[in-house]
Amino acid sequence: MRPSLAFACFLFFVTLFPFMVFSFSSEQPALLCHSDERLALMQLKDSFIIDKQALANGSCAYPKVDSWDSQSVDCCSWDGIECDQNTGLVIGLDISSSCLYGSINSTSSLFRLVHLQKLNLAKNHFNYSVIPYALGNLSMLTNLNLSSSEFSGQIPSEISNLHRLSSLDLSYVDLASPIPSVLANLSSLTSLNLDSCGLQGMFPLAIFQLPKLETIWLVRNSDLKGYLPEFNFSTKLKELALWNTRFSGELPASIGNLDSLEYLGLGNCNFTGSVPFTLGISSISNF
Ligand SMILES: *[C@@H]1O[C@H](CO)[C@@H](O)[C@H](O)[C@H]1NC(C)=O
Ligand SMILES: *[C@@H]1O[C@H](CO)[C@@H](O)[C@H](O)[C@H]1NC(C)=O
Ligand SMILES: *[C@@H]1O[C@H](CO)[C@@H](O)[C@H](O)[C@H]1NC(C)=O
Ligand SMILES: *[C@@H]1O[C@H](CO)[C@@H](O)[C@H](O)[C@H]1NC(C)=O
Ligand SMILES: *[C@@H]1O[C@H](CO)[C@@H](O)[C@H](O)[C@H]1NC(C)=O
Ligand SMILES: *[C@@H]1O[C@H](CO)[C@@H](O)[C@H](O)[C@H]1NC(C)=O
Ligand SMILES: *[C@@H]1O[C@H](CO)[C@@H](O)[C@H](O)[C@H]1NC(C)=O
Ligand SMILES: *[C@@H]1O[C@H](CO)[C@@H](O)[C@H](O)[C@H]1NC(C)=O
Repeated sequence: MRPSLAFACFLFFVTLFPFMVFSFSSEQPALLCHSDERLALMQLKDSFIIDKQALANGSCAYPKVDSWDSQSVDCCSWDGIECDQNTGLVIGLDISSSCLYGSINSTSSLFRLVHLQKLNLAKNHFNYSVIPYALGNLSMLTNLNLSSSEFSGQIPSEISNLHRLSSLDLSYVDLASPIPSVLANLSSLTSLNLDSCGLQGMFPLAIFQLPKLETIWLVRNSDLKGYLPEFNFSTKLKELALWNTRFSGELPASIGNLDSLEYLGLGNCNFTGSVPFTLGISSISNF
């Protein structure tokens, strides 16, 4: 051995070996968070500013992203993040009511979190950004909540790619446009909330035929027209809320077939006919 090599070996043992022994013997829990997803989350945080005024006047709860810290490596322990216990992949992101302010589009690092199942961005201020079409790439999504988040524009048709989507809440998002008919392709949908979305045009009749749909909440859309179809015994509808819309036409007698119906809100619409007495529901509003 040349002296310099021997010295290098000596250095190795003196400096690294004790460290290696130490790190093998201390039983650190395996790090859950994947570094690429952690980076995507940090970039997402950095793309917004905290709305100090909203924070001060109590119109948002608190900035969950405060705990997303460059010093803290395990993003699975951050506020609002849920990871799969086995894979460590980020499957839930709930940054609702976090005082976030800023624009967002389809190039956002958010869309690198492709394993997301639940996404809640409600009650932030996204500066009237159009709803990003890249949401349609989050193919594992089961729950999407953009309620009161100052998005704008229409529902992107790419949403119809979300074959697992069970709950869609866009209440108080100013869509000011018709509902795309491809929404009727969301075959897993159980709950649809489009309260106060400034909807226009005709409500696509095919949406009523979605096999798992339990809640349809379309209230306070004074320009939205629509009809009710004949209903089947198989329909699982529990809540049908249409007040303050321009739904019209004959109330189908088959509405009496809706065995599961618990709430029917038809006030300030323009239906003719009457609710059949066979309907054993507990609550009929404003009819
Ligand atoms: C609170 O602040 C937000 C954000 O600036 C603003 O939009 C909202 O109108 C304010 N609310 C009240 C009650 O002042
Ligand atoms: C909000 O949107 C406006 C208009 O698109 C833009 O000029 C402004 O920079 C945006 N503000 C933030 C904080 O993203
Ligand atoms: C999307 O947002 C980023 C960051 O705000 C911006 O640099 C980019 O120009 C935007 N892209 C489009 C197509 O608007
Ligand atoms: C997003 O989905 C579109 C189809 O809607 C596809 O063409 C595109 O490749 C996807 N992008 C990524 C990054 O997966
Ligand atoms: C969406 O988020 C808002 C605000 O956190 C909440 O009130 C609402 O219940 C959520 N919607 C669904 C369908 O969970
Ligand atoms: C929606 O479903 C219809 C019929 O099932 C199909 O023809 C159409 O291609 C689908 N559209 C999208 C955007 O998935
Ligand atoms: C009722 O059942 C028929 C036959 O199965 C089907 O074609 C129709 O789309 C169903 N209607 C609704 C509203 O589910
Ligand atoms: C309700 O229907 C009647 C008769 O078709 C029509 O004259 C009236 O304008 C409608 N009202 C609304 C609010 O659409």
